[in-house]
Amino acid sequence: MKGIILHGGHGTRLRPLTHTGPKQLLPIANKPMSQYCIESICDAGITDIAIIIGGLGANKVRDYYGNGENFGVNITYIEQDEPRGIAHAIRLCKEFVNNEKFLVFLGDNIIQKPITNFVENFNKSDYDATVLLCEVDNPSRFGIADVENEKIIKITEKPKKPTSNLAVTGIYLLTPLIFEVIDNLKPSWRNELEITDALDNLLKQNDNIGYETITDYWKDTGTPDDILNANRQVLEHICSKAENILVDESSQDQNFFLDLPCIVGKNCKIDESAQIGPNASIGDNTIISSDVVIENSIIMSDCKIDGGLNIKDSIISANCHLHGNNKDKTKKIFLLGEGTKITL
Ligand code: G1P
Repeated sequence: MKGIILHGGHGTRLRPLTHTGPKQLLPIANKPMSQYCIESICDAGITDIAIIIGGLGANKVRDYYGNGENFGVNITYIEQDEPRGIAHAIRLCKEFVNNEKFLVFLGDNIIQKPITNFVENFNKSDYDATVLLCEVDNPSRFGIADVENEKIIKITEKPKKPTSNLAVTGIYLLTPLIFEVIDNLKPSWRNELEITDALDNLLKQNDNIGYETITDYWKDTGTPDDILNANRQVLEHICSKAENILVDESSQDQNFFLDLPCIVGKNCKIDESAQIGPNASIGDNTIISSDVVIENSIIMSDCKIDGGLNIKDSIISANCHLHGNNKDKTKKIFLLGEGTKITL
């Protein structure tokens, strides 16, 4: 079985974080979110992976993952000229897939549990496709499946009046039958070839689509709040499994106050009077000076923060310098693109 990761798009709802690179490389607990997809696919026994790249900073994806050998997989890159939809991106992979069953994972989807069982069940089944469904509070933001008597009867993209709260997550198990359906697809109102339309047409054609339900954590990280939410979840998950290793060895000889869950990267300099956490991720080579507090936030690599800043619910990209005003201890919220310099 082959795997496909979608890594394109403009990430407009995440600007300014995405002005300098693709959203799927934004770090969750100090690791690019698409790396969780690669690990999850690899753990399910799939090692031939195509990454669909396109848009701003596509070269950064190639630079980071290379040929995949550092991640235990073989990576092929396929370019999509414009973000023309998930189904369009999948169609570009026909040759790569080579008539096998395959898995598609959207690079901005974070799931906590292994997908091994889903993959094995699909491999054994004779379904044309299997989708993973998850209950959501805001169904009009997703592709939605209507299920009756344990069968999917309809799949709709972002319905205005949803008739179900079962989102079709961005993890799809497919057969090459989907390519023919995509060839006959018309672009949607947002001028994209929608995977949901392709699946609904396939359903109409053969009535043979299976589903499985994700009952624990799944998140499509479309907004900054989604990213902070995913960061919290992943930190909690890894903190429950490991102690100590969450502060990189090279940053451990310091006595700052750590409120778990949180993670600190390589070669960080953190003052003793600083407070990190809960729910904070600090990237490599970041310097945090006296009396700074960082809570529920992502601070990426090579940042400098001083002046007793009290930071909450923030995402601060790489190479930002923030100077607080020591007298003002009120909590501050930032959403900063790479290289921002601020003096308060
Ligand atoms: C896309 C799909 C949608 C699916 C979602 C999952 O939405 O079109 O059906 O539920 O991914 O992440 P988009 O991210 O393009 O809004």
